[in-house]
Amino acid sequence: MTTVLDVQRFKDEGRHFAMLTAYDFLSARILDEAGVPILLVGDSLGMVMLGYPTTLPVTMDDMLVHAKAVSRGARQALLVGDMPFMSYQASVEDAIRNAGRFVQEAGMHAVKLEGGGRVIEITKRLAEIGIPVMGHLGLTPQSVHTMGGFKVQGKTDKQAARILADAKALEEAGAFSIVLEGMPTRVATAVTHALRIPTIGIGAGPATDGQVLVFHDFVGLTTGKAPKFVKRYAGLAEEISRAASEFMEDVRTGRFPGPEHEYTTNGSTPAKDPTEVRYGG
Ligand code: KIV
Repeated sequence: MTTVLDVQRFKDEGRHFAMLTAYDFLSARILDEAGVPILLVGDSLGMVMLGYPTTLPVTMDDMLVHAKAVSRGARQALLVGDMPFMSYQASVEDAIRNAGRFVQEAGMHAVKLEGGGRVIEITKRLAEIGIPVMGHLGLTPQSVHTMGGFKVQGKTDKQAARILADAKALEEAGAFSIVLEGMPTRVATAVTHALRIPTIGIGAGPATDGQVLVFHDFVGLTTGKAPKFVKRYAGLAEEISRAASEFMEDVRTGRFPGPEHEYTTNGSTPAKDPTEVRYGG
């Protein structure tokens, strides 16, 4: 199983690594079996799974449902639960209680928190009680209204210096890694070189130690013009649409179900694998 020590080793050995978001049992199992070392149950699920325009409405209860499903699917990956908006901002006690729920109830191995400032103290407290923390700097979606939209951060020298200072403070506080999102390559490169712990980039250029993509972007389930940093590794939206058209046509013409899909009175087709008996069938 991948641990936070392995993630540090990746950086120490100069091995770039991948992280993907996961939100449900089956996709977690597929990604885990494919060998993806880190799965993040991101609060981006609010946008890609629940259809909200931002991550702000996502609650701890939402996160726990998905985190539990992911931990039932994954065996090898390091599982990181993303602390949603207002699960850690109000007090250190909230942060500890909610991070504890991710570990105790949902089987997560670590949590991720957005921002510097007060989050540095929270990171220290969580690290002290044995909950590994992944930081998240730059474009932090939970601060969308402060940033005036989902905008690239760190473009000015002052902003870049703030990101670097926060990154160093998070490392000092005990974070085991930091996501760097939506910032110029130059800034992410400087942060990556300044830290002992690994950085994981999204829209932060090629120099970060790891790269993360949102599952729905990665498999091409999100449609329309993708942000510049997205690379689609599959075209599932088109494939699902094509399959739906084919299914409708098969039903209309009577091609589906065929004889191979029918049960007979002298015994139903035995399932080969217990997971094939689905939906109470
Ligand atoms: O919520 C999320 O999926 C994230 C990643 C984009 C890093 O925070």
